[in-house]
Amino acid sequence: MTKICCIGAGYVGGPTMAMIAKQCPDVQVNVVDINEKRIAAWQTDDLPIFEPGLLGVVKEARGRNLFFSTDVDQGIRDADIIFVSVNTPTKTFGEGAGCASDLQYWELCARRIKEVSISDKIIVEKSTLPVRTAEAMERVLHAGDNPVHFEVLSNPEFLAEGTAIEDLECPDRVLIGGHETETGQKALQTLAEIYATWIPRERILTTNLWSSELSKLTANAFLAQRVSSINAISALCEATEADVGEVAHAIGTDSRIGPKFLKASIGFGGSCFKKDILNLVYLCESYGLPEPANYWRQVVTMNDYQETRFVKTMLHNMFNTIANKRIAVFGFAFKADTGDTRESPAIKVCRELASEHATIVVSDPEAMDNAKLEMPELADQIEFEEDPYKAAFGAHAVAVLTDWKQYGELDYQRIYDSMQKPAFLFDGRNMLDHNALFEMGFEVYSIGKGL
Ligand code: NAD
Ligand code: UGA
Repeated sequence: MTKICCIGAGYVGGPTMAMIAKQCPDVQVNVVDINEKRIAAWQTDDLPIFEPGLLGVVKEARGRNLFFSTDVDQGIRDADIIFVSVNTPTKTFGEGAGCASDLQYWELCARRIKEVSISDKIIVEKSTLPVRTAEAMERVLHAGDNPVHFEVLSNPEFLAEGTAIEDLECPDRVLIGGHETETGQKALQTLAEIYATWIPRERILTTNLWSSELSKLTANAFLAQRVSSINAISALCEATEADVGEVAHAIGTDSRIGPKFLKASIGFGGSCFKKDILNLVYLCESYGLPEPANYWRQVVTMNDYQETRFVKTMLHNMFNTIANKRIAVFGFAFKADTGDTRESPAIKVCRELASEHATIVVSDPEAMDNAKLEMPELADQIEFEEDPYKAAFGAHAVAVLTDWKQYGELDYQRIYDSMQKPAFLFDGRNMLDHNALFEMGFEVYSIGKGL
């Protein structure tokens, strides 16, 4: 029986391993993490992350061939294949602070793997990493005399939160990069066999290690760039009475452009887009390529502008003062169908509203626990209220910041009746029926539509 160990039981490690275990009953999958609380939660039906469909997949395999544990060393020792799926956040200190990847967690894993391994292993980079990280890892793994052989592969993850289970069940592609040596190709085929259990062979792409590592950063950069591009156009739409939804539809029908990722918004959030683009910027700079670095940096600059622009729209339309006004924030997660609030645009919006001395009431169906941890410094100015009707009661404005489906289904007449007048509604996701809201009496503002 092949034994897999995954180090890191987070948003990627948990769902990815649950899917492998579900699809491959003859593979034993041990997910290990140093975070005891997380591991304990994976063993219950109250999983540590909210992801539609995840519990069903976990329950099918848990206790059969899927196990969660804090015993990292034992997991490593027993495994034939080790996925490393730890966090790789942006560095906050020293050289490259605010841009480079902080690789300390990943290197600690490599050192631990080397320390405790007594048999040959395939090491799979699941985390998103700077191109050529595998080279550094191989040096750490093979330093000194160690009879154990480690073959490093890159197998970046492309799942999106909220659709992780669909993405894992039926991915556009799986990417595996390995060395073009005999042992490299053998390891690559071993991993490809596992995925081939449920994924058609033609969707399993194989490349050299560096192409695979770089493809992950590039994919995220291209996706985020589309959002920033349409958001840049949304600002021009507001100035010209063009409608960004119509523009997106019109350009998206061109098969060379395609319709996806053209939804104008308050900006992209999530733990990865910004971090990965900044990492790409840092890499370009490190290789002496300032023009490519500046090109990609603009994607993040544009996103910051879009978030700030939204708050300015609120302030200017509410008579340039929101001090002591009650503002109901509908949605704090960085997108719908997740409880994840990492880098959510809502954080910046709330901070900027708070700097104008607004009273903020945050509502979200799944992200309340995480939201409460995001802005401890604003504890005095923020209330949390899960019920959107209660959050909006007596408010001067509602700001829709996450595209939760249920926000499209609320009784807005009831909300309007309970609010201060004029009642403002700022739709940061362009998801509501603006004409109907206008008819009710709301002062409605959206992204990328003339006022
Ligand atoms: P996460 O923070 O949710 O999970 C990482 C886990 O690793 C944590 O639970 C942490 O306790 C654990 N960990 C850290 N150091 C450890 C160590 N030395 N030993 C054992 N456990 C350790 O992160 P995530 O969102 O799952 O992201 C993981 C990686 O995957 C990142 O590189 C990210 O860029 C990438 N990625 C994330 C997504 C996503 O949707 N979140 C998608 C694709 C790729
Ligand atoms: C993204 C990528 O889509 C995944 O392929 C990748 O694996 C992952 O990052 C990662 O590396 O972490 P994710 O961040 O979970 O996935 O979610 P997305 O659906 O990409 O949305 C990201 C942000 O962009 C959200 O805030 C979303 O609301 C926003 N967005 C997306 C828009 O504003 N407009 C769009 O048209 C699409």
